[in-house]
Amino acid sequence: MAFPQNFMDELIARNDIVDVVSSYVQLSRKGANLFGLCPFHSEKTGSFSVSPDKQIYYCFGCKRGGGVINFIMEEENLTFPDAVRFLAKRAGMEIPEEDGDQEAGRRRARLLELNREAARFYYQLLQQPEGDAVRAYLAKRKITRQTAVRFGMGASPNAWDALLTAMTRRGYTKKELLDAGLVVQNRNGGLYDKFRNRLMLPVIDTRGDVVAFGSRVLDGSEPKYMNSSETPVYSKRRVLYGLNLAKKTKRPNIILCEGNLDIVTLHQAGFDNAVASMGTALTVEQIRLLSRFTRELVLCYDNDNAGKVATERALQLLDNSEFTVKVLQLPRRLVDGTYVKQDADDFIKFQGPDAFERLLTGSENGVEFRMAQVAGKYDLQNDEARVAYCEEISTLLASLPSAVEREIYTTRAAEVARITPEAMKLEVQRAFRRQAAREKRAQTRKDLNPAAALQPQERSLRYENLRSARAEEGIIRLFLLDESLFPSDPPLTPEQFSSPLLGRVFSLLWQARKDGRPPSLAALAGSLTQEEMNHITSVCQHPESARNASQALSDYIRIIRSEAEKRSGREMDPLLAATEKYKDKK
Ligand code: UTP
Ligand code: MN
Repeated sequence: MAFPQNFMDELIARNDIVDVVSSYVQLSRKGANLFGLCPFHSEKTGSFSVSPDKQIYYCFGCKRGGGVINFIMEEENLTFPDAVRFLAKRAGMEIPEEDGDQEAGRRRARLLELNREAARFYYQLLQQPEGDAVRAYLAKRKITRQTAVRFGMGASPNAWDALLTAMTRRGYTKKELLDAGLVVQNRNGGLYDKFRNRLMLPVIDTRGDVVAFGSRVLDGSEPKYMNSSETPVYSKRRVLYGLNLAKKTKRPNIILCEGNLDIVTLHQAGFDNAVASMGTALTVEQIRLLSRFTRELVLCYDNDNAGKVATERALQLLDNSEFTVKVLQLPRRLVDGTYVKQDADDFIKFQGPDAFERLLTGSENGVEFRMAQVAGKYDLQNDEARVAYCEEISTLLASLPSAVEREIYTTRAAEVARITPEAMKLEVQRAFRRQAAREKRAQTRKDLNPAAALQPQERSLRYENLRSARAEEGIIRLFLLDESLFPSDPPLTPEQFSSPLLGRVFSLLWQARKDGRPPSLAALAGSLTQEEMNHITSVCQHPESARNASQALSDYIRIIRSEAEKRSGREMDPLLAATEKYKDKK
């Protein structure tokens, strides 16, 4: 880590976690901690906690946690050095010169500048003879010049090195062009333009930076769409195409579509609230991003099987969120006797903006969408199928969180199945009890098998020796609680820890103590990944009593040492190792 330690300590001290978090989340005190709605996942009751004593946050729902720097990295979508810069500015601190991380920040800025130059290059070519084919394609798709300008569209010429040459001439290095994903390398190490003979669609984030490019071929060849790979300035999970424009909409909601050109057509038709996730399923990061701009989402995915699966997945992600969610189902269109799916772009073209406006107004909510999916599976003229329908729909109804919703939709389902509401209500109650019983069984299983519950969430962090790991967790908690309990020499080596992560955290904390600094989790942000940080903060949620602390400490040390001895004994005795292996096979 390139920032000086004393600067980091001061930075953390001057950015109290409660103050920082409070400017994003409304917190209220409950005991020693403060609670609020988690900014990292959607929820209606607050499971997000902030501990002023430990200077950490932790969400009991999504299990993310860390110190003040982690919070800013996650919330503002920044890298570690950028989060540090952000907090330094907030606290009015000067950032020490001459360090590698500032260098990283400069590199990032260069890449963004390069992307912008590239976008300008493609944009200008669109007006030139080299852009003829793309202009013809835009005309064919009925995209006006004004719309093309609004989206900053461009044309990549039909050549191997047009961008490479132009950008190199402007002083960008080959490495920068590669890092930005604008050129690729062939087997012999030669470079060539990634995007050739394509309609270029710059991807602009909500700050107005060109972070990536989407692109479409002009004919039927493959791949139809080609997008930038992940780069230091682009993570597709965190960006939505068109949100730079949609964030300014006057409409009350945001429409989510599948395709880039759907967005273009919708904006052109007056629906300037449309965005697309560019060929990936909706992510939690995108939902978090959207929550800054709207409270209502309209899912407008393709009316085919893949689109329905995508809708169901998105609904699940948005379940229990503060968003109102609607589903806009595009009707299929009859072509030569068969019904074909149409996307928003097709629909606007054939049915016009007014028809789309009507669909938007009439779009059903998530429950209605799911109910229609279930009804669609059964031939309700057939008695047996009606019985099966009732069973399946009652499971869905029983899972609705609100009693009012359950009541309303139970009546509707009864109408669909042509049975009395009372009978349907009984079905739903039965399903409700079945679900409660299932949940109870699952809980009992969990209670009987605490080992599983104690494992880290992240698979790569799984403990190999649970007995030792629990003691190792205890050591770390005690150290943070009261380091004066510990002798002046480290009682354990990192190798004695069975969990590499816990061993590493212990030695980082010990190092801080040796340097005469207070051991704190917040200071580890630069040394641990977010997943590791999530786990360590969850470890620190368990209480460690100060009263029996020195007894606990010697117990923990004893356990860790004895487990470590067992391990090294096994390693040293090949005969024993062989027997164990044999045991495993049997
Ligand atoms: P579709 O294939 O449904 O395209 O892909 P579309 O939007 O209707 O395209 P047009 O109308 O033929 O131009 C939907 C989205 O999936 C991503 C793109 O973001 C596209 O807009 N995609 C599709 C890719 O990333 N790669 C592909 O090869 C195809
Ligand atoms: Mn399309």
